[in-house]
Amino acid sequence: MGINFAKLGLATSQVVLSKSEGHMIRFRVNGKEKSFDGDPDMPLLWYLRDVAELTGTKFGCGMALCGACTVHQNGAAIRSCTTPMKEVGGADITTIEGIAPMHPVQKAWMEIRVPQCGYCQTGQIMQAIALLKENKHPSDQDIDTAMSGNLCRCGTYQRIRAAIHQAAKETA
Ligand code: FES
Ligand code: FES
Repeated sequence: MGINFAKLGLATSQVVLSKSEGHMIRFRVNGKEKSFDGDPDMPLLWYLRDVAELTGTKFGCGMALCGACTVHQNGAAIRSCTTPMKEVGGADITTIEGIAPMHPVQKAWMEIRVPQCGYCQTGQIMQAIALLKENKHPSDQDIDTAMSGNLCRCGTYQRIRAAIHQAAKETA
């Protein structure tokens, strides 16, 4: 299966996938066992989108500056665009596709109609779920701090904050 680097704005020549390096990285994605023997420096985001075909996770900046690529590694929010495959060995990776349907955060997102264009929203939801795992009753300040690395060009921040408060009431 070919990896569509062009889709991510990257030249194929920037990436070397080598089967001969002898690396075998084993990990889980959404509960399923996976193995990867390509370039250990390849970003996890590329694996998720182009190898695993889990395209709910988005590419925004590629530099850990926007949060569009947020997934969970062992339950904590990480930026998959700057997480190399060599750092996911043994880990449980969860993407938006692995979140239970109608998770309280998604329910609140729908009820409050948070998304506008939607591009940033899977990253926002993954970050919010990780926040509520750590802090079941976040204040406005806690939410602003935790979500500060997740940018939304449509300016949905007020609705995101309201949805997190609503989800917190359901999950508490
Ligand atoms: S694409 Fe990863 S933080 Fe922007
Ligand atoms: S909803 Fe459009 S970028 Fe956030």
